[in-house]
Amino acid sequence: MKKIAVIGSINIDFFVESSIVPKFGETVKGESFFQDFGGKGANQAVAAARLGGDVTLFGSIGNDEQKNVLLNHFKNENVNIEHLNIVEDISTGAAFIELHNSENRIIIVDGANKYTDIAYVEQNLDGLLEYDVFLFQLEIPVETIEYLIPYLHKHHKTIILDPAPAQPLSAELLEQITYLTPNEHEFSTVTKDERDITDVLKDYPNKLIITRGEKGVSFYNGKEIVMIPARTTMAVDTTGAGDTFTGAFTVGIAEGKPLEECIRLGTLAASVAVTKKGAQSGMPFKGDIENLVSEG
Ligand code: RIB
Ligand code: NA
Repeated sequence: MKKIAVIGSINIDFFVESSIVPKFGETVKGESFFQDFGGKGANQAVAAARLGGDVTLFGSIGNDEQKNVLLNHFKNENVNIEHLNIVEDISTGAAFIELHNSENRIIIVDGANKYTDIAYVEQNLDGLLEYDVFLFQLEIPVETIEYLIPYLHKHHKTIILDPAPAQPLSAELLEQITYLTPNEHEFSTVTKDERDITDVLKDYPNKLIITRGEKGVSFYNGKEIVMIPARTTMAVDTTGAGDTFTGAFTVGIAEGKPLEECIRLGTLAASVAVTKKGAQSGMPFKGDIENLVSEG
């Protein structure tokens, strides 16, 4: 098993459920409130660790009331946090998530995640080379990613980028990435490429993995476009489904599995995660996936 480094965001997610979507100036009563651990970096780290990945998380949290809760949480989840950055005078990242009949909308506040900056990764630069597989998202400053990817690429590392939330990235940077896992919408924002998905996929064989929700996941294997269907379940909350996919996919890559198998693992894991509310709460463990596989 290769060692995985996740370099990304850490949030506390605050969920509120209501069937009515309030208009500006209006107050409505919601049905429930709950908190979960979130942030795309932390979510993907936990998803990978639950499936047996050897995972270290690089990221930042505030020295606030969330700190000890988070440190304990990562310990319980077997996510190595020895390099975590604890920042004074700023809050831990937060996400405010409205759930309206299983659809969500989210506002995130970076807080300490802003400090997952070049100065922080520079302190760990040599140490980073002991990892083999690197996993990024776009909830930390993009400069950090633009700085690290060429460095890791030069050292022949496997680099996975889940480009969410989407923003434009240069073609040079995309070239240095081993696997890119956007959804359709994110892909066109990242590349400003508006072509049909079939044409786009052919330009990135065995690299671009487009997640398409219920439609499944598509990639081009050099000969043909492969469509891996989604496993259908009763989704109650899709928050973190993409993160579960990417975290699980990364474990497959770290285990040296063929690409198609890594994608299948990702889709299975995501199908379990959506059956529970919250981003990390519903993420499956290795045994859950083994049970699903043996059920067929
Ligand atoms: O991808 C889901 C995550 O996005 C949530 O956990 C929330 O923290 C936001 O970062
Ligand atoms: Na969920």
